[in-house]
Amino acid sequence: MPLANSTIHKGVFITFEGTEGSGKSTQIVRLENRLRKLGYTVKVVREPGGTPIGEEIRHTLKHSAANQGMTAETELLLLNASRAQLVREIVRPAIEAGEMVLCDRFYDSTIAYQGYGREMSMADVKNVIEVATGGISPNLTILLRISVNASEARRSARQNSEATQRDRFEEANRAFFERVETGFQAIAASEPNRIKTVDGNGTIEQVEERIWEIVRRCIEVPRDP
Ligand SMILES: Nc1ncnc2c1ncn2[C@@H]1O[C@H](COP(=O)(O)OP(=O)(O)OP(=O)(O)O)[C@@H](O)[C@H]1O
Ligand SMILES: [Mg+2]
Repeated sequence: MPLANSTIHKGVFITFEGTEGSGKSTQIVRLENRLRKLGYTVKVVREPGGTPIGEEIRHTLKHSAANQGMTAETELLLLNASRAQLVREIVRPAIEAGEMVLCDRFYDSTIAYQGYGREMSMADVKNVIEVATGGISPNLTILLRISVNASEARRSARQNSEATQRDRFEEANRAFFERVETGFQAIAASEPNRIKTVDGNGTIEQVEERIWEIVRRCIEVPRDP
C-alpha cells in the first residue's frame, strides 16, 4: 500500500541558460505551452527579476541611467539579491506545491558572466550564490548554444525590429562574450547529469523538438506513482 503522500507529484525546476540571443525566452514559451497542454501547472520566471522586488533590481541592473558606474561587486550582489527573493517567494513554494517551474537564466549565468566573463573570484561568486539559493538547484538545465556570430546577428536583428531599451549587459565587448561562452561550456562539462547542451541553431521548431526530447525524459520520472 503506497503512502498517501507518495501520489503527490514532486515539482520540477528547469532552467534555461545560454548567451544573448540563443533563444531562451523564445523556447521557454514553447515549453510552457507544451507542458500546460499536458495538464501541468507551470510557473515561468526570469532572472534577474521574477518578483516585484526582483523586477526593480532588474531595472537597476539593466536599464537604469545610474548603472553605468556600477562595480562588478555591486552587480554580483544585486543579481543575487534578486535571486534570493525569487527562490523564497516563488521557486521553493511552487516546487513544494508540486508545480513545474521554468526559469529564464539562474545561477549558471552568474558563474558564466560574473565568474568567467568579469573574471571575479570564483569562490566569492559561488559563496554568494549559495546564500541566495539556500542550496536549491535545478533538476534540469537546458544550455542553448549558438556561435558568437549568430548571437550578434540575432541581437542586432532584434534591436532593429523592436523598440529595445539600452541594456548594460549587451554593451560588453566580444572578448567578454567569448569568456562567457567558455564558461558555459566548462559548467556543462562539470555537471553532465543536470545540464544538457542543446544546439540552438536551426528553426525555432527544430530547437523546440530538441528541447522536448530531453524534457519529456526528465518529467516522466517524477510523474510516475
Ligand atoms: N531558432 C531561431 N532562429 C532564428 N531566430 C530566432 C530563433 N530563436 C530565437 N530567434 C530570435 O532571436 C532573437 C533572440 O531570441 P530570444 O529573445 O529568445 O533569446 P534569449 O536567449 O532570450 O536572449 P537574451 O539573453 O538576450 O534574453 C529573437 O528576436 C528571436 O525571435
Ligand atoms: Mg531572453
